[in-house]
This record gives sequence, C-alpha cells and structure tokens, in this order.
Amino acid sequence: MTKEKFTVTAALPYANGPLHLGHVAGVYLPADIFVRFLRMNNHDVAFICGSDEHGAAITLRAKKEGITPQEIVDKYNKIIGKSFQDFGISFDIFHRTSAEIHHKTAQDFFLQLEKNGKFIEETTEQYFDEEFQQFLADRYIVGECPNCHNENAYGDQCEKCGSSLNPTDLINPTSTLSGKKPILKSTSHWFLPMDRHEEWLKEWILEGKLDGVQQHEPKTWRNQVTGQCMSWINNGLKPRAMTRDLDWGVKVPLPNADGKVLYVWLDAPIGYISATKQWALDNNKNWEDYWKGDRKLVHFIGKDNIVFHAIIFPILLKDHGDLILPDNVPAYEFLNLEGDKFSTSRNWAVWLHEYLEKYPTKIDELKYTLTAIAPESKDSEFTWKEYQARVNNELADILGNFVNRALVLTQKYYEGIVPALGELTTEDEQVLNILQEFPDKIASLIYAYKLREAQSEVMNLARLGNKYLADNEPWKLVKTDAKRVETIMHIALQITAKLSLLLEPFLPTTAGKLRSFLNLNLTSWEEITKNSILNAGHHTNAPEILFQKIEDSFVEQEVADLQATKEVPATNFPPQKPNVSFDDFTKMDIRLGKIIEAEKVPKADKLLKLTVDTGIDTRTIVSGIASYYNPEDVVGKTVSVLLNLEPRKIRGVESQGMILMAENEQGELSFVSPEKEFGAGGEIR
Ligand code: MF3
Ligand code: ZN
Repeated sequence: MTKEKFTVTAALPYANGPLHLGHVAGVYLPADIFVRFLRMNNHDVAFICGSDEHGAAITLRAKKEGITPQEIVDKYNKIIGKSFQDFGISFDIFHRTSAEIHHKTAQDFFLQLEKNGKFIEETTEQYFDEEFQQFLADRYIVGECPNCHNENAYGDQCEKCGSSLNPTDLINPTSTLSGKKPILKSTSHWFLPMDRHEEWLKEWILEGKLDGVQQHEPKTWRNQVTGQCMSWINNGLKPRAMTRDLDWGVKVPLPNADGKVLYVWLDAPIGYISATKQWALDNNKNWEDYWKGDRKLVHFIGKDNIVFHAIIFPILLKDHGDLILPDNVPAYEFLNLEGDKFSTSRNWAVWLHEYLEKYPTKIDELKYTLTAIAPESKDSEFTWKEYQARVNNELADILGNFVNRALVLTQKYYEGIVPALGELTTEDEQVLNILQEFPDKIASLIYAYKLREAQSEVMNLARLGNKYLADNEPWKLVKTDAKRVETIMHIALQITAKLSLLLEPFLPTTAGKLRSFLNLNLTSWEEITKNSILNAGHHTNAPEILFQKIEDSFVEQEVADLQATKEVPATNFPPQKPNVSFDDFTKMDIRLGKIIEAEKVPKADKLLKLTVDTGIDTRTIVSGIASYYNPEDVVGKTVSVLLNLEPRKIRGVESQGMILMAENEQGELSFVSPEKEFGAGGEIR
C-alpha cells in the first residue's frame, strides 16, 4: 500500500506581535503533533509556515510603535521564529511573505488568474485622505456606527455592537491619519467574483466532490467549519476586492496599477506556496510535487480564518487550474485565559517566548496541558491551576510514577536487564491484549484530528500500567514469588516501551528521555504495533525523575504576575484629536451663559429651546439635552456656551450658539458649570 502524501500548513502568524498560548494551543501545537505522527508513519510530508508581513495589521502596529513597517516585521519575525524553534515546533520551513520569492510567486499567481479572466475590474468610490494623499484601509477610518451609534466604530466593524460594516456605512467618518473627514474618490480594483463559485463550493464542501470526483471525506471536516462555510454561501457570496490602494504589500504587477497592492488575504495563503518553493530550492526538491497530484493538503487554522481557507483560497487554487485543494481545514475555537479573553492591547496573555525564557525545562508540561485543554470543538480556558493539576496529577503521579517504578525496580532486581516473560495470568493476558489495541486506537484518532482524545488515550495507557503495578505489588511479591515478579516486570517494561513511542508526537522530549532510559533507538510507529518491543536480556538504564511537581506558590506567583501586568480596561473615551494651533483655539468664543427660559421644541423629543443671557445679549439656543433635563430644572443654571458658532436652523428655530456639555463613559450628559457662583458673561479661555 502506498502511503498518502501530505502538505501541512499552519496559519502564517502576523508579524505584528509575539505569540501567546492561545495561538499555540489552537494552531501550531496540534499541527506539530499531527506532522510528527505522520513522519513516524513514514508519510511523505512537508510542514510549512512563515510570517504574514503585509496588511493593515502591520502598518497599524508600526504607527503605534513609531517605527517603520519593515522594522516591525523584522522584529516580530525574529521573535516568533525563535519561540517556535525553542518550543520545538518542527516546521520544515518558517518563511516570510516579505521575501522576494514570495512577491514574485504572488504576482505570478495573480497574473495567471488575471490573464484567464478570473477577476472583474471595477471602479468604486473609496475614502481618501487628502492631507496624506492616500486611500484609507478599512481600519484607518473611524466614525459613528449606524446601528448602535458608538462613535468609534472602524470602517470594517463596530466593536461595540459587533456589526460588520463598510467604510461608507459610517456616520461622520474620520481618517485616523489626519483626523479629517476623508473624501470619496473613485478607484479601480480587481474583484474575485465569488458569487460565480457557489455551486461547486457547495458540492465540494458538503459532498467532498470536485467536478464529480471524490476529493475528500466530508464527514471528516469539523462541524463548525462546514457550518461556517455553508452559512456564508447560503447568505450569498459577493465579489471581493483582491487589490488595495496601499503602499505596503505585494505590488500589483500590471501597468496603471501604481500605488496598488494585492489584498493581504490573497497574498498570505500564497505564502504557503512560496515557502514551499524556498524549502524545495534549499533541499533539492521540486515544489510542484507538494502542490499537485495525489497529495493531501491540510490547513491548521483558528476559527477566524475559516472563510479564507475553506472558501476564498480554494477558489483561487481552482482558478489557477493545476493545484490541489485542501483535504481538510482543521480549525480551532478560541482559548481563554483565567476567565477572560486573551488580549494583546490589555496585555492579558501568557506569551510563549516569556514562558520559554522562564521555564526552558518545562516545555512538555506546557505542551501536555495545552493539548489536554485544546479548543477543538468549543472555546476552552487556560488557568495556572489547571496547568498545576495536569502536571501534578497526570504527568507526575501517573506517567512519571509508573515509568519510574518500572525502571527503578528493574535496576534493583535485575541490574537493568529485562527479565523473561513467564506463565501468564488472566489479568496479564487482558493487559497485554488491551496494550495491543492502543496504537491503532491512537492512530485513528490522530488521523481524525482528535488530538486531545488521542493524548488522553496515551495517558490512559500509563494509567493502566500504574494500576497493573499497584494491583500486583511486585515490591511485596519479590520476597515470596520471584518468578512471578519477572513476568510482572516484563509486562510493565513493555508498556513503558510502547509509551516511549506513543508519546513521541505529543511530548517529544519526554519520549526521547524515556527511550534513552530504555536504551531504545526506535522512532517508527510500526515498531509500536509489534507485540513485543523489548526482548528479555535487553539492558536498560537508570531513570531520572521526568516531572517536578508544581508548587502552589508557583501558581500564586503566575496569577499575581498576570494581574499585575494587566492594563486598565480600554477606555470608552475617544482618542485625543489632532493638535490645533493656539490661533485656532482663540477663534472660539466660549463664555458663561445663564439660562433664563426653557421650553420643549414641539415634535422633537430631544430638543430644548433655551433663552440664554450671555452677558452681552440674550439669545436663543437649541440644545439636544431634553432626554437628560426637564425645562424647569435648567432655568437659572450657569453653563458654558460657544457663542460664535455659525447660527443654524434646527426644527425651524434659529439656534445662535451651542451649549457645551460633558459626556461621561456611560454616555450621560452634564452641563459644564463654574465651580464658583459666577454670573453670566465670563469668558472661558
Ligand atoms: N495572519 C493571519 C492571522 O493571523 C493568518 C494568515 S493565514 C494565511 O489571522 F493563510 F493567510 F497565510
Ligand atoms: Zn455599533
């Protein structure tokens, strides 16, 4: 039987910040476990990743840190790459989308689709910042949400009510670059007509068929992946722009496309291909072998990436013509931290590089915990208490305890030499039979992307071993029935040997240590399925303790550190506006005014018509405060008034100025009144 071939990718992390445990648990660690398992089974596999270095994610971060986008991506590509290496994520290549080979690959890809008429060119109106002379990416525009009236909604989304928006939906849009109102300017772009692809996508996602040919087994796709895709398709796919007016990214390789780059979600997944090309070049291979023909393409991603990997990229791959489509898109839900969402801006995170610096010898402890709680089918949570419990109660008390007993007793009774198997009791036979079932059971779980369950089966085997020794008590029997003890220890050592291989995909460091104690040199899955891995007479070595227990003080310290570095919750107040000159400021004539009369404006719930003594005259001002104040409550109050605002008619009444109001975080209004008893007319400056 020929073994299936695999190209496995892990979502390219944005090079705009370090990795935290949420990223690790929900993409990189499961991908690594899967690949290590495939390698042990002699599948031909390429494991591809790199950093995603384009798009607004990068330019916004650069602006925030006050350095160039290039400096940002160089910095974080390094930090991320190093933490992957230190953590032992076994990519064949960790590449980057700023590499020249990537720009060329992405441009060629775009051109091929363009040439074959796979895009439509369309001119639309987009916001443009006149002062900065540039079109504004969605995230560069803020304004009032048309749904909930939050004044700080972004061009693509309102974070307050969660609705997804287009920049032109915003009321009073402002450019975050200049702080000014952007203008609409027409610009032309290449759109992917996704609406033309609905039919084949449905068949491919639901039945696994492409042009009538079976490609994948749809039952193996996670429900949340199929579900999200179908909800997109059933809502109707719309053409989506594949280019942007930006100066950071892969240039559109066509004449008359100055200032245009490829959309980051077109360019980034092509990064999987360009990374494969670079790896093939470095290793004397042909990249096409990894993207064409009989081979399974698997994308490990987080759930926010589903549509890009299960709809958009497949359309692009199919349009390209000769490339394979994903066989599976195992997407993970989100991991939370100590009762709250991971948040970079609030610094609520356990950063991978920091963990590795602090605890370089506790890598498998973290891997084990993250796999045990991996958000495979629903969101899950990391707590230091859980980490402690997993390490102490499972790694140390079950796995560590069992293998230590088996190996220490072997040293003590037989100078490390594996004793022979004697006559078997029914219990022995049962244990040996169950032992035989583990490798296949675990293998099928891994092939089905159920890594959490697979790891817990490995722990179950250690549990079985632990119980077998506890039930048979060789340390007592040794005085009365030495022959029987040989059989017990032989079986315990067989279990230990299987563990040293079954653990390999999950905890490679521990598995390696275990094999060195056992003096075993095997790393192939086939060996595990054999009845007996260790022969009588084989020499084993003295073991060391595999896992140190985690003290309560460790947990307390970590939780306290997290709390201490947590940043105060993001404020609801808007960011500071751009600076104004002193001259501009003095143009405003603000004074204290005394309200002498107030009445409701007919048919306008929110408006009061006020008569105000300004010290120089008495005038009418219409103010939108009726939801907060009754007319009778405001008469007699001294308030701040902007006198020289151009008069305007509101509901038929001419308003000659504006009452200034303060708004708190909850959106309630208050007058701005002098702290002393001051009459009307005082100038405010
Ligand atoms: N950078 C994206 C994210 O972190 C993932 C890109 S995956 C790729 O959400 F396929 F586009 F590369
Ligand atoms: Zn809103």
